Amino acid sequence: MHDDVVAIKMSDKNPREFSGDLLVCVVEEDIPQLASEVPGAIHRALQQVWSTGDFKGSKEQTLLFYPGMIATENDTEVRAKRVLLVGLGKQDEAINGRREQLRLAGGTIAKQAGIVKAKEVLVILPKDYLLEAADISQCLTEGLLLGNYRFEFHKTPKDEPDKPTRVERFFLHDGGLAGGAVRKGLQRGKALAEAACAARDMANQPGNHWTPAAFADYAKKLGKKSSLKCKVLDKAAMQKLCMGGILGVNQGSALPPQLVILEYKTDKKNPTVLLVGKGLTFDSGGISLKPPAGMEDMKYDMCGGAAVITAMQALAETEVSGVNVVALIPATENLSGSAALKPGDVIRHFGGKTSEIINTDAEGRLILADALAYGIATYAPEAVIDLATLTGAVIIGLGHHYTGLLANNDQLATRLIDAGAQAGEPMWRLPLGPEYRKQIDSRVADIKNAGSDRSAGTITAACYLQEFVGETPWAHLDIAGTAWDFTEKTYIPKGPSGTGVRTLVDCLSQWEPLKPAGKK
Ligand code: BES
Ligand code: ZN
Ligand code: ZN
Repeated sequence: MHDDVVAIKMSDKNPREFSGDLLVCVVEEDIPQLASEVPGAIHRALQQVWSTGDFKGSKEQTLLFYPGMIATENDTEVRAKRVLLVGLGKQDEAINGRREQLRLAGGTIAKQAGIVKAKEVLVILPKDYLLEAADISQCLTEGLLLGNYRFEFHKTPKDEPDKPTRVERFFLHDGGLAGGAVRKGLQRGKALAEAACAARDMANQPGNHWTPAAFADYAKKLGKKSSLKCKVLDKAAMQKLCMGGILGVNQGSALPPQLVILEYKTDKKNPTVLLVGKGLTFDSGGISLKPPAGMEDMKYDMCGGAAVITAMQALAETEVSGVNVVALIPATENLSGSAALKPGDVIRHFGGKTSEIINTDAEGRLILADALAYGIATYAPEAVIDLATLTGAVIIGLGHHYTGLLANNDQLATRLIDAGAQAGEPMWRLPLGPEYRKQIDSRVADIKNAGSDRSAGTITAACYLQEFVGETPWAHLDIAGTAWDFTEKTYIPKGPSGTGVRTLVDCLSQWEPLKPAGKK
């Protein structure tokens, strides 16, 4: 959607020759040292601000100055228009903490660059940072590109002299680190950040623009320009397959539903992982109508689908090996047209299970159930991961800081928690079990779509999904609290965060076949 993709490249120039808008040095707290490639005048300036105590490299601390302020008479070694020092803070003890410090620094750089309207920015990588070179450049790249994100698609351009702008070109200088590794990390960080930004774009588009058909079109285009294979099941195909969940939720909408399928194939010998993402392009609640205050945010109810589709894009771009991945995105609106599903109705899901509708606002589980059952029957995956903005209850429990994780397999749960920690997208596991499952027993059908009270709402929603995965190792990520309004960070804007994309790609890039349950 952003035609003007932000460029990020390795710099082949000496920083002394960079004559762009902003030259940036990343500085560790209490270690006033810079890479030897940094112009001498900046070394001297740093010593001075250090000795005065004005700049210590603490987290998110910045110092902006101009070459004329530091140059001696014959000094021509800083040609950039401005210089920015950015603090990293003290190196975190944990490796994931150090990764996050670099993303935060990247976000700070993008923000400060925006304020001074810099278009071309050169960042020199920090010296002696305890991470592999590729990791350093990946995390910094993620922070720069995610922090530089804007969504102004529907704004008429006008002259606003004080409004921060977007950087057009970033350059990374390796600062003496191994160039090849830095380049590799940059490419990976770029693919991940661009995928997450694409997911943000989809979410930012209102429901009248980002429709089920828009999901299908995006996937078809991906199928044409990448190694991904795309198929889309339309309403007629869903009717043949008896997908009563997606069809039922769709009944109140004038727009037809779509079941988007993307396949990433490596080797037949590799295991297959199935991803499923909730693609509810607007959730009014249906007949069980939501209250109007804040209902506009329900255009974001497709963030699970967006994360899954763009994660596939990044998997293809980074040429992940060792795993086959299939993504399913059931997409529809949940509206209250005259044919809409009603409380008390009974539907039949793909595979035959029946469900009594108690609340038409508990629609996410209905569309996911069909997709999970269909995906497992069709692709026999070794593991399934679904992402969905499924319950308001997860916000009550975990707020906007952790994604809720529920799983029937400890190994899969641990992998996701680890991948989330690595990506700066933390997750907290909640229990499942028969005592919760009982809450969705129905007197008239096999199961009902909501419990009789609101207790354990996130868990009973997951119990519903669990009915459709059988014994297949499965994990469900409830991203209702993190898909938008996620913890404020320099590289996470207000609005949709793109959460899940980087975690999924990290998890799948390191995929090893799961060990049979019981064996450690
Ligand atoms: N899309 C909502 C969940 C949601 C709510 C996400 C608030 C983000 C913020 C979902 O379809 C829903 O409405 N769930 C109901 C389920 C209930 C009726 C059992 C909920 O959480 O209230
Ligand atoms: Zn709902
Ligand atoms: Zn919903």
